[in-house]
Amino acid sequence: MEILRSISSLQTFLQKCRKQNGVIGFVPTMGALHQGHLSLLSNSIKDNDYTICSIYINPKQFNKKEDLISYPRTIGSDIEQLKQIHCDALFLPSDSEMYHAADVSIVYDFTHLFNMLEGEKRPGHFLGVVTIVHKLFNLINPDKAYFGEKDYQQLQIIKLFVKNYNLPVEIISCATVRNSKGLALSSRNKNLKPHEAEAALNLVKTLKKLKHDVSEFKRTYSNAPLKKQDLIRLKHLAIKIIIANPLIKLDYFEIIESENFRFTDYIDYNKNYRALIAVYIGEIRLIDNISIN
Ligand code: PAF
Repeated sequence: MEILRSISSLQTFLQKCRKQNGVIGFVPTMGALHQGHLSLLSNSIKDNDYTICSIYINPKQFNKKEDLISYPRTIGSDIEQLKQIHCDALFLPSDSEMYHAADVSIVYDFTHLFNMLEGEKRPGHFLGVVTIVHKLFNLINPDKAYFGEKDYQQLQIIKLFVKNYNLPVEIISCATVRNSKGLALSSRNKNLKPHEAEAALNLVKTLKKLKHDVSEFKRTYSNAPLKKQDLIRLKHLAIKIIIANPLIKLDYFEIIESENFRFTDYIDYNKNYRALIAVYIGEIRLIDNISIN
């Protein structure tokens, strides 16, 4: 595997790939790689002639300095894992390579998704994500790029971004990878103590309880739409699991219509919905989501 630390070495590598008419798959990451990243990478390796992974902890997407400082950094084992999976190249740029001194922020303003849920709770986060993804797409010009459903709102924003700016890259979404107990894999899990990791299982339990209760309601009431009062009641039942655990602080638990990412307070069984949850366990922020019908 080639390790490319500069834009010029990246360009030399890309020229080699393009000369051979190679189809390029790209997996952007912030490192601290886990099975979730490896599943994105193995999909890319399977689909494309060349796979490039980037590891760059993008300061612009962290709205809190402490969060940036405590973000796990495991570059040695990341490189080992990338070699083992036969990734072709790792782009590992420095801050000055990605943001030059006089960098001017572009104002991206193409979606209401910037300002809700993660966007509301972490002001500037998605602007930072889109800025860095735009830069990386410009540099690499991949044929396909891989993103996980775990960061569901990010995935939708990237899809809209590519559509809005007519970028010639196909966005491939990949299912969330979970550990044997159901916890969605996340780099941030590396900062959880064992008892906190146990508490974190309540995210998926809450989501699954809601999904189960929505489908029970559908069965019991023969497809009658789930009205506002009923949905509030089911959400309360699910959220009790979180509230009962003193280690967890709920940030949000919301349901959106998958098609347009608008909040909903009822369920019409002809549509698709997604429940999204965010919590703090100590200082560690965790998110998860599930499709609910
Ligand atoms: O999902 C992530 O790890 C990051 O937000 C991304 C897409 C690599 C941009 O920094």
